[in-house]
Amino acid sequence: MLDARNLHKSYGDKAVLRGVDLSIRPGQVKAMLGPSGSGKSTTLRLINLLERADAGTIEIDGKQLGFTGRADAPRPAPERILAKQRQVVGMVFQQFNLFPHLNAVRNVMSGLTTVRRASHKEAEERAVMMLERVGLGAHAHKYPSELSGGQQQRVAIARALVMDPKLMLFDEPTSALDPELVGEVLRVMEDLAREGMTMLVVTHETRFARRVADEVVLFDEGVIVEQQEPEGFFENPRNKRTKEFLRHVH
Ligand SMILES: Nc1ncnc2c1ncn2[C@@H]1O[C@H](COP(=O)(O)OP(=O)(O)OP(=O)(O)O)[C@@H](O)[C@H]1O
Ligand SMILES: [Mg+2]
Repeated sequence: MLDARNLHKSYGDKAVLRGVDLSIRPGQVKAMLGPSGSGKSTTLRLINLLERADAGTIEIDGKQLGFTGRADAPRPAPERILAKQRQVVGMVFQQFNLFPHLNAVRNVMSGLTTVRRASHKEAEERAVMMLERVGLGAHAHKYPSELSGGQQQRVAIARALVMDPKLMLFDEPTSALDPELVGEVLRVMEDLAREGMTMLVVTHETRFARRVADEVVLFDEGVIVEQQEPEGFFENPRNKRTKEFLRHVH
């Protein structure tokens, strides 16, 4: 479903991505691990078209992102097309990024009424349904400031899901949470995985990666140095950098 090839990205003279290949099959969950600065977030930002790669290609279901026109003569897509392509991918960040002046339902509805031009009634119904799905039916009318971090992050997940994405990207979704709130967010993500959502998850939660991911990759200095199913990754890593990394997180 996702096929990213040979992604390169530099900021000034700093090469942040140096040839990343990453693909994911429908319904697959891939966990991305790696030290700080290794290029994990940059990779997600390229896939979500928040930034443009210097080189390399990203395809979703065979369509190249960031470009328009015939396959043999692609042109960089204008913002209007990028906005459309972005809708295929849902993203959840470490900082939940909710609108503080909107309650939970309004936060979840916002993309439906603006981007999708859904009616208020239809958007509201779908938003309430999605909030129920993440266990927040009883909190639908609360404002972000009245919700815990774990609840706010679940609202953010509902807001991404309501747009019906083909692929969900998570960038350290539990890193800003108090430890006792991490579990409720991971449970929602695990349910989503079991329901067949295709997911790419940057996380430091190795237990989650082990239990939920189909494959785990290790980023190091802008390249993927290891890619394996969880048991092999954690029990029998092939790369010296993976062994070093795992020594620090265990
Ligand atoms: N807009 C930017 N301008 C300049 N440098 C940047 C920019 N964005 C990222 N970088 C640099 O790129 C490198 C990789 O950053 P990235 O955020 O992808 O790492 P990461 O693997 O997500 O790390 P972390 O685990 O700390 O989140 C870092 O050295 C960072 O400072
Ligand atoms: Mg990051």
